[in-house]
Amino acid sequence: MLLLRHCRGLTRVDLFKTQRVQLLQGAALPVAVCAGSLCARWGSSHGGHKSGQYQRSHGPNWRHALAGLLAGTGAVLAYGLHHSQTEQAATTIVQPIAPASSLPIYTQDEVTKHRSVEEGVWVTYKGSVYDITEFVSMHPGGDKILLAAGGALEPFWALYAVHSQGHVLEILSEYKVGELSAEDRRKQQSVKSTDPYSTDPERHPALRINSLKPFNAEPPPEILSDNYITPSAIFFKRNHLPVPQVDPKSYRLQVEGVSGGAPLSLSLEELKTRFPKHTVTATLQCAGNRRSEMNKVKQVKGLNWGIAAISNATWSGARLKDVLLAAGYRPEVAQQTSHVQFEGLDSDVTGTTYGASIPLNKAVSEEGDVLLAYQMNGEDLPADHGYPVRVVVPGTVGARNVKWLGKIIVSDEESSSHWQQNDYKGFSPATDWDTVDFKSAPAIQELPVQSAITQPAEGAVVERSAEEVTVKGYAWSGGGREVVRVDVSLDGGRTWQVAQLQSSEKGQVPAPSPPPGRAWAWKLWELTAPLPPAAQELEIVCKAVDNSYNMQPDSVAPIWNLRGVLSNAWHRVKVTVKEDEEEQKLL
Ligand code: MTE
Repeated sequence: MLLLRHCRGLTRVDLFKTQRVQLLQGAALPVAVCAGSLCARWGSSHGGHKSGQYQRSHGPNWRHALAGLLAGTGAVLAYGLHHSQTEQAATTIVQPIAPASSLPIYTQDEVTKHRSVEEGVWVTYKGSVYDITEFVSMHPGGDKILLAAGGALEPFWALYAVHSQGHVLEILSEYKVGELSAEDRRKQQSVKSTDPYSTDPERHPALRINSLKPFNAEPPPEILSDNYITPSAIFFKRNHLPVPQVDPKSYRLQVEGVSGGAPLSLSLEELKTRFPKHTVTATLQCAGNRRSEMNKVKQVKGLNWGIAAISNATWSGARLKDVLLAAGYRPEVAQQTSHVQFEGLDSDVTGTTYGASIPLNKAVSEEGDVLLAYQMNGEDLPADHGYPVRVVVPGTVGARNVKWLGKIIVSDEESSSHWQQNDYKGFSPATDWDTVDFKSAPAIQELPVQSAITQPAEGAVVERSAEEVTVKGYAWSGGGREVVRVDVSLDGGRTWQVAQLQSSEKGQVPAPSPPPGRAWAWKLWELTAPLPPAAQELEIVCKAVDNSYNMQPDSVAPIWNLRGVLSNAWHRVKVTVKEDEEEQKLL
């Protein structure tokens, strides 16, 4: 290993410039640039992730593999492609590798001068200096990388734990140009590095964690459908940033941009007392729910959500419409402005906050039921779900339900936030990361019809002696469209049976049908059916139909998209039928 480091270190000094030229030209680099057989051997003994291959692939493929680096999207799983292959490498090559003596020493002032592509983009990491100018255009998070230009990477990487992998460090090491002076290193070390996630709340241990920092987790499917109203503790959690600490006493909600009106600033108390309290039962679903099924067709970028990035709760708060009226909104305004933007109080190290917007029509509609919610399931909002105030936009993709709400802006523009402009949009299966133009697609608002099987689980065993099988799941549609039917098949879709729908807690009086266009809550469903004789395996399938007769597509491939959103194909689960021992003897 020492030999290896030494070898690679020497290589970097002598070949650094040449490598860059070759990289830019997309030329293949020899595996054993260091001319040592040890290097070549290392390359071939680490699966597909050879040092030479690594350098060779700095073109589009390499960019694709790095897609999870996107700052601000919480995208993590693209690393999965290479992660398993590189795990071993990650544990062995975690430090940048040039010997200190062979590289120039730079002061922080010299590094700070390199803050633009024209001047060169330099950064520091753990006392080393990197010239990442050529990487800037390849960074999947785009220009955000420039925020770190001339300074330390640590605060940015602390925000997105996805960077803390050997894989990423190895990429960085390719760009090493020097060491930071001992004095500046000391200064850096004395700056207390705080973990921005250290104040995140405690979470329920049952949650299946997709990423810890930022925290993203879903409940196990089998407990998801145990309750019509999902207990807050296991309600799926989707955070892009650390959970902000908001003091309810000093909290203010700002409302701006109402033409003819005046800016409004409301305390939490005022929000609670000046406006009537409304309660709405609404399902929230992340655009990436069931993304893992798209990953099986072809790798996509984003957290590998299973089927439970969806949950149902009662939300109470003031109507957004009432607050806008108090800020001077008049229906005539709707002719001039068309969006309502929301800004969260969660921010990254640069102060960029989470943001999104919805159409003004939805915001002010009597039937839109958009809430500035301060309660979830009858209690103060939990920290993870937006304490003290969040927007609840029933029927609309989770991303627009902005948590920790700080500001509302009525505008003729959509939110300029990354999550409105460059994320949460759908594309053709033909669109890839080299051709995608985020401006060409509208931001997702209403979601399509959805259903999934929560029980039995994939791979479960059903005893033949039980004679029947019970299948359970959820169904929901966006835009207030009511689910009117769920069809279930036990034979891969050849024959179908209709499931029983449930729209309240079991044992409770069924809730009256929602007014047309306001079916914001999911339906749970259940089917108990005889086991098909002789079947050794069941392919259980479900599909829902909403009151516009929208149905789910039958397979994933035709709706596959590079970001893995809007995944709503028929859900399929395979289970085995275990024959009784007696019968098995007879067979
Ligand atoms: N609001 C803020 N301020 N910050 C966020 O990261 N995530 C959004 C939305 N609102 C987010 C936010 C996304 S993508 C989703 S799916 C929902 O919150 C998830 O809400 P939940 O965590 O309450 O389930």
